[in-house]
Amino acid sequence: MCGIIGYTGKNQAMPVIVKGLETLEYRGYDSAGIALDKKEKFSVIKSEGKLENLIRKIESADVSSTAGIGHTRWATHGKPTETNAHPHTSENGMFCVVHNGIIENASVIKNELVKKGYSFVSETDTEVIPQLLSYHYDGNMLEAMRKTFMSFEGSFAVAVMCKDESDVIYAAKKQSPLIVGRGNGENLLASDVSALADKAETFAYLEDGEFAVVRKDSVEFYDMCLNHVTKNFEKNETQHAENTKGGFEHYMLKEIFEQPEKIRNLIKDKIKNGKIFLDEIAGLSLEIAKAEKLYIVACGSAYHAAMAGKYALEEFCRIPAEVDIASEFRYRNPPIDEKTLVVVISQSGETADTIAAMRLANSKGAFVTGIVNVLPSTIANECDYVIATKAGREVAVATTKGYTTQVVALYMLALHMASVRKTLSDKELEFYAEKIKEIPAQIETVLADCEKFEKFAGKYTDKNNIFFIGRNTDFAAASEGALKLKEISYINCTALPAGELKHGTIALVENGTPVIALCCNERLYKKTMSNIEEVVSRGAEIFLIRKETISHKLNCSEIVIPECIDIFSPVSEVIPLQLFAYFVAKKKGCNIDMPKNLAKSVTVE
Ligand code: F6R
Repeated sequence: MCGIIGYTGKNQAMPVIVKGLETLEYRGYDSAGIALDKKEKFSVIKSEGKLENLIRKIESADVSSTAGIGHTRWATHGKPTETNAHPHTSENGMFCVVHNGIIENASVIKNELVKKGYSFVSETDTEVIPQLLSYHYDGNMLEAMRKTFMSFEGSFAVAVMCKDESDVIYAAKKQSPLIVGRGNGENLLASDVSALADKAETFAYLEDGEFAVVRKDSVEFYDMCLNHVTKNFEKNETQHAENTKGGFEHYMLKEIFEQPEKIRNLIKDKIKNGKIFLDEIAGLSLEIAKAEKLYIVACGSAYHAAMAGKYALEEFCRIPAEVDIASEFRYRNPPIDEKTLVVVISQSGETADTIAAMRLANSKGAFVTGIVNVLPSTIANECDYVIATKAGREVAVATTKGYTTQVVALYMLALHMASVRKTLSDKELEFYAEKIKEIPAQIETVLADCEKFEKFAGKYTDKNNIFFIGRNTDFAAASEGALKLKEISYINCTALPAGELKHGTIALVENGTPVIALCCNERLYKKTMSNIEEVVSRGAEIFLIRKETISHKLNCSEIVIPECIDIFSPVSEVIPLQLFAYFVAKKKGCNIDMPKNLAKSVTVE
């Protein structure tokens, strides 16, 4: 989604803003722009498409200034054109604004302003912000901010410069993240901490309904009634290494290879002597013991992680676990009482629908546990308990290490709950805990065969439709594999429970139809094999992912993954699918780390 960076300080603003925008690129965008405070007027430079277009324009402009704001825009209202790109300026040139989020009542406000004689140049909701500020402004900027932002419905993170106040950036926030960073003789604003990497020594999150006034040597915070707010600043420990590709051609490949290390790091303090220690949810034991139902709510890949975790939760804890897509859950009045546990999963911790689902569950009295990677983040800050997945910064838009660490966190949650509910014996708990510890080595074995995937991938670049099938845990992995391939290679992929094919979709299978069949669940492999035979007899070409122990008589391409127990197989069996997606997209020449139309952090609904 959109990214904001703002700088005011002792140094030139432009290099800091460009570097910040480059760091925010991973969030996804289709146009970009900057505005510099040039004393007499704002210097605004914008362009469609990638940052290099903007940088080319900047190179031929006078960009000396010690304060400015920058933005990467992921279009919501209006096409990704230069006119619609941010920053937007008020008609009188007094205010210059960058905005993330959606002002839902923008058209009503715009109509009112048009009646008062204002004219608009863009199709965006954002343009109402500088225009309304100029309507309310009588020399008192904070008062104009209060009146303006009080009248907005929807979500916003906004940075504003006012012509009357040199080198000052004002900020406001509701529902979209915004962070204020403090440096030495320089201060910043950004949508995420990584964009503050080198400059800010400490940082603080702006809360909903708060304003910030950022000057080069001071930062002040106010609430909606313009009372002073005091904030605690945290040390900025963002590692520069997390912002580099570390010798890999793409962030996605780097992140795929990081998975064994990240999972080891996640489990290292939590599994000791065959026991699981999830101290972060120790306070939830009473609720876990009496719980009668569990909802796991998430979006996209995090939803697929929930699907994979559901089998372990139901099997180990003997509790119904309902997996739900956050954008559906939030509008369907789910029956929640004090015997319902809710788990929300989010890599970014900022997904708008997952945040809304968490708040809904909370408002109905449920204790919500968040499985989150980015800390701090809105979900991590607001939910009752947090299990951090510790995957480190994930830059590629298509998640890999984010997904597998979520699944492993769910396995540990399942074992912890089973131990509290006494639904597994100590011996069983020990057995499964040991099996979790084997996962990183299983992934390493698959990764060692990386080159094989490059070879296979060539056969699929000209395909328009690919089916992924599997049963049970294999279906969870198939769903994630299909999403990976479609989002980065733009091939239409459909994942289906293998037994469901014959209820309609098999009508599409013909000579040469590619079917990727997952057969890693030993308990069900004979059933899946029958479904594979059904499509083979209609001409399908099978690419089989199977476990060493599963034999077959098919004549097909295959990848064999190491032995692992069925219930934990969605982690190692998804690795071939990640690599497969990566190499197909690479052979097709796609923009792997930043696929078109996608955003890393989906902060609008
Ligand atoms: C796909 C992908 C998305 C995210 C989804 C939820 O590769 O990354 O489907 O999983 O947008 O994002 P988070 O986990 O940040 O809530």
